[in-house]
Amino acid sequence: MARKPAAHLERGYIGVGVLGMGVVGSAVVQALGERAGLLAERVGYPLRLTWVLVQDLQKRRRVEVPPSLLTNDFGSVVGREDTDIVVEVMGGEEPAHAYILQALESGLHVVTANKEVMAKHGPELLRLARERGTNVLYEASVGAGIPLVSAFTRDLAGNRIDSIRAIINGTTNYLLTRMGQDGLDFSSALRLAQELGYAEADPTNDVEGIDAAYKLAILAALAFRTPVTFGDVYHEGISRLNANDFRYARELGYAIKLLAIGRQEDGEVQVRVHPAFVHQDLLLAKVEGVFNAVQVEGDLAGRLLFYGPGAGAFPTTSAVLGDVVDSARQILQGGESRVPVSARGERRTKPMADLQTRYYMRMTVADRAGVLAKIAQALGDNRISIASVIQKETDEVARTAEIVIMTHRAREAAFQAALRQLAKSDVVHEVGNFVRVED
Ligand SMILES: NC(=O)c1ccc[n+]([C@@H]2O[C@H](COP(=O)([O-])OP(=O)(O)OC[C@H]3O[C@@H](n4cnc5c(N)ncnc54)[C@H](OP(=O)(O)O)[C@@H]3O)[C@@H](O)[C@H]2O)c1
Repeated sequence: MARKPAAHLERGYIGVGVLGMGVVGSAVVQALGERAGLLAERVGYPLRLTWVLVQDLQKRRRVEVPPSLLTNDFGSVVGREDTDIVVEVMGGEEPAHAYILQALESGLHVVTANKEVMAKHGPELLRLARERGTNVLYEASVGAGIPLVSAFTRDLAGNRIDSIRAIINGTTNYLLTRMGQDGLDFSSALRLAQELGYAEADPTNDVEGIDAAYKLAILAALAFRTPVTFGDVYHEGISRLNANDFRYARELGYAIKLLAIGRQEDGEVQVRVHPAFVHQDLLLAKVEGVFNAVQVEGDLAGRLLFYGPGAGAFPTTSAVLGDVVDSARQILQGGESRVPVSARGERRTKPMADLQTRYYMRMTVADRAGVLAKIAQALGDNRISIASVIQKETDEVARTAEIVIMTHRAREAAFQAALRQLAKSDVVHEVGNFVRVED
């Protein structure tokens, strides 16, 4: 059903419906009420909350909302003539994705904080918004209140973006900070983070790098102007790291961070999330606790660093409100959709096997003569050369030693082949861990 193009002029306000009233939704609803004057001033026209969709109508709410505005039936509100903008802060893939599709089909503008939906369905939703003359804005989906989506869409639009290197998951950065500074093992750091509310009861999405991969897909699509979705992003988590890795990293002059890396090279896009050695002199190495930081290399702007709290009700609300104001202004101005005609078309995603980087490896080996020669041979067979070897702890009883090797640049496929060869070698008891070095 076609919407009246200027219904807001007849009713005297721009109507905003909100999907979800949890951590973020409550703060958004509160801000729409408390900041009505400021928002009207910024938009040049009043905004009004028209409905709020929740699951459980009986639940006690932190923020008061007139019962008449609460509903648990999306079908009854999506077609209503009093609403122009839908704010989706429910989370999860479905039904959030289906509701956003329906809202766009109905000619509504959508503002979402949902990284999973945008990382999996962004290109489809943006195409539909363009066709319908509306918009999907999603600043809150990456880095909460840190302006990233708008920076790539608008402020850096004249640049060729060469790379993004980002710490975009506050939970894992908190865990890595505690492991690095306090010597905690992974499970103790996780328990502490859960007690403090920095990690969820089921931390899988965070610790396995999935959440960071969602966000990287969103940023890389914007930065490299090509469709990048979650399935394109290689991701690895942090649970293999132990206290020794942090100790050795520090001795070698590095911090360990879960990095989300996007790079375009030779017409290919590389998108990967994994723990990385980051030299301690780099700003990214100094980002601690639940903070996020995104380093961008633009050919004109140079190296930029965006830094701030990457989660939380109020920072996320800041981004949501920015998008609501932008949508409202667009509604007042009328005209075509402002979703940029995306992309120069598909670009090949560089396979992980083709990555070239340096590696740190930690191994337990037999403590006897000739061992290093055998290890060097296995690496050499795969054209990997050693930059340094350090023998660390020895176990007199087991007659084993822990050694740390830093390699020169090597191809990932060759490195993985060398790891398989070393695992079979009679002198290697265990390959404890390896970490890629991000220079
Ligand atoms: N929390 C943060 O710091 C943060 C930061 C950046 C982005 N985000 C994103 O913001 C979104 C919301 O996060 P949140 O932390 O606010 O989540 P939350 O606290 O779990 O709240 C979810 C809300 O959505 C409602 N809801 C869920 N499924 C529903 C369904 N099928 N039908 C109707 N209502 C439904 C819930 O209703 P009931 O209240 O009735 O259960 C609840 O009010 C997510 O996409 C998240 O990734 C969050």
